[in-house]
Amino acid sequence: MNFEIKTLSWQATADAVCDALIVLVPASSAKAIGASGKATGAQTKQAKTSELEQLMRSALQHGDLDTAPGKLLQCYRPQGVRAPRVILAGAGTGSARDISRAVAAAFGAYKPVKALKTATVMLCLTELPDLSGPALQAAMHAAAAATYTYTTSKSKPEPRKINQITVNVAHPSTAKTLASDFAQAQAGVQGVEFAKEWANRPANYATPTMLAQAAQSLVKPKSGIRCEVLGPQAVAALGMGSFMSVAQGSGEPLRFIVLHYNGAAKSQAPTVLVGKGITFDTGGISIKPAADMDEMKFDMGGAASVLGTFKALSVLKPAINVVGLIPSCDNMPDGKAVKPGDVVTSMSGQTIEILNTDAEGRLILCDALTYAERLKPRVVVDIATLTGACVVALGHLRSGLFTADDALASALQKAGEEALDPCWRMPLDDDYAEGLKSNFADVANVGGRAGGAITAAKFLQRFATQYPWAHLDIAGTAWKSGAAKGSTGRPVSLLLNYLVASVDIAQAAIKK
Ligand code: BES
Ligand code: MN
Ligand code: ZN
Repeated sequence: MNFEIKTLSWQATADAVCDALIVLVPASSAKAIGASGKATGAQTKQAKTSELEQLMRSALQHGDLDTAPGKLLQCYRPQGVRAPRVILAGAGTGSARDISRAVAAAFGAYKPVKALKTATVMLCLTELPDLSGPALQAAMHAAAAATYTYTTSKSKPEPRKINQITVNVAHPSTAKTLASDFAQAQAGVQGVEFAKEWANRPANYATPTMLAQAAQSLVKPKSGIRCEVLGPQAVAALGMGSFMSVAQGSGEPLRFIVLHYNGAAKSQAPTVLVGKGITFDTGGISIKPAADMDEMKFDMGGAASVLGTFKALSVLKPAINVVGLIPSCDNMPDGKAVKPGDVVTSMSGQTIEILNTDAEGRLILCDALTYAERLKPRVVVDIATLTGACVVALGHLRSGLFTADDALASALQKAGEEALDPCWRMPLDDDYAEGLKSNFADVANVGGRAGGAITAAKFLQRFATQYPWAHLDIAGTAWKSGAAKGSTGRPVSLLLNYLVASVDIAQAAIKK
């Protein structure tokens, strides 16, 4: 998806060559008309303005256009407008959330005619006088999400028709002040789409080897990205016995992917992102029930979000250093598979009693968290489709956030709220770790059923002692089930927003 930003008058908008024109109309526009229907300031200007603006004002005046977010008035070849389709979309308060709903509804309603191979759309945000950066970003992300199509494993794919969107804002000064938000959303959308592509692929189109190739495809001249891929031998040499034990039941060889994005001086400590890359989770010997098991192809959603974030970084090029770590393998039942009760030795030296082979995410992440120590990070954030319990706790709206660091919690929460990719902080009291006691190893990989998302986080915390650390459980937010089954690309927007905000923090620290 490609965006451009413009500042066009009503007349220039009406004259613009495009296949559809979407105009967002907030409640403030209706208020300006006046409930009485009598001419107000805006209307007296009508004589000088275009038929497009008159169309909108008249629809408001006659009550044919509801400005509640999601409400639409569709027009076909209205007078004086070049675009054959005009969609007036209620945009409520003009908040990021309302704009997101409005844009989703409008693009959902616009299906280009068969004859068109590609369709161009103009999205007019000109009626939103105080358009904020997050609101502009929300509009762009919603437009991209509504037009995204998966094609990779279809024999006769219907390719995406809407690849180019012009965003129209009210004033050149608005375009200028929102330039960095526009750039972030442009990069963010590419990151989200990269994450969706890899998460949506079936497991036989997204093996650990292929995920590593996806990471390597991000290495381009001037992208600022380097990539190392470690195979079974190198991982054994590092002593990642916990990670290896999950991979040993699969015919697909494991991969440990290390991505480096360098946008700042080498001396600046990196932020490390660790993504769970289970390319398929059968549960292993503690096998899962058959229903909906196909959805366990999404168990590399954390890894996909790291890949997507690096894609966005390579486009946006912010002045920070970031390292991505992706332990990737299948979790399969097999004659060679790890068994319940087996004790393995992690890279940290801690021994782990594997009481349930389906709690495999923490077993691959713990070794990546130990590996992260050598990067001397400023912060480590891991992202994982870790527990069904997190879905029970928070549903599909908010990701679970676990950290003992209050400043890090606030920064991640703020980044998520602003990006409409929200998370919710969960507790990490030490007493929650009680259930992880083992008679045969230093720690067990599962506690009881109660508080399952928290005991999983407590397990990870044992391996993240050398740096500020946060864990995002995205089990409920990484994909949608049912008719709209597919990856959401979350939490790429949260992560990118957090990383961009950390540039300012780093620069403030330098100034001090
Ligand atoms: N990948 C799953 C978590 C999951 C389950 C995510 C359902 C989304 C939907 C994870 O590896 C897993 O199986 N976790 C177990 C842990 C349990 C054995 C302690 C779970 O949540 O049931
Ligand atoms: Mn599992
Ligand atoms: Zn899993």
